[in-house]
Amino acid sequence: MNRKLCLFETEQEAIAFCTSHFLQEAKKALLERGTFAVALSGGSTPKKFFQALSDAKETLDWSNIVLFWSDERAVAPDHPDSNFGMAMHYLGKKPFNEAKMFRMEAERTDADAAAREYERLIHERCPEGRFDIVYLGVGEDGHTASLFPHTSALTVRDRKVVANYVEAKKSWRMTLTFPCINEARNIVVLALGPSKAPIIKEIFNPVGKELLPAALVGTQETPALFICDRAAANE
Ligand code: 6PG
Repeated sequence: MNRKLCLFETEQEAIAFCTSHFLQEAKKALLERGTFAVALSGGSTPKKFFQALSDAKETLDWSNIVLFWSDERAVAPDHPDSNFGMAMHYLGKKPFNEAKMFRMEAERTDADAAAREYERLIHERCPEGRFDIVYLGVGEDGHTASLFPHTSALTVRDRKVVANYVEAKKSWRMTLTFPCINEARNIVVLALGPSKAPIIKEIFNPVGKELLPAALVGTQETPALFICDRAAANE
């Protein structure tokens, strides 16, 4: 099975688990490789997780955490839709090393060049060119990162990062690809609240032949951990 359900009664318990899992994997990676390579997710779900991380009193070598993003909108970092800007709002005061934080420059006109540069950074800054954890959310249409249904990024197998035009949003995105996500040492999908219940049901009980993008993350070797509260897994 390429996924596991980590079910918690309440949102608070789910977020507490997600936070302690981050800290545990950080210590492990820093001990083993001297670096903890993370790709942060966007949207609104991660906000409470990032707040909990910001509040964590754990002593950790934050300066050797390399921060990447799982996807980004084609906006400047100070735009309200920026996933980078959202994360920095919550995590900005943690003692990360700014030289090890890499924003996806999804707003650049040459989006493909920006994606290729981001891919080069992953190879240069992540041990073995792999993330220790990739964080993801899931949209109500079953997208994850910016791997939206019926978009060209879904079939990419020879890139870790691509620009992806999303017709449903009439906008460009930049996103990690399935090969990049599925070679991570840990894959975490955080899905909270009743609005996620129908799509979580569909992911865990697929009806059609065509699997949703969020059902394609995770492998037998590294199952995607779906961290859900009861509300999100209610169906
Ligand atoms: C994005 C996100 C996206 C998100 C889902 C869920 O840039 O929009 O990366 O994949 O995780 O859309 O979004 P919510 O957490 O806001 O429900």
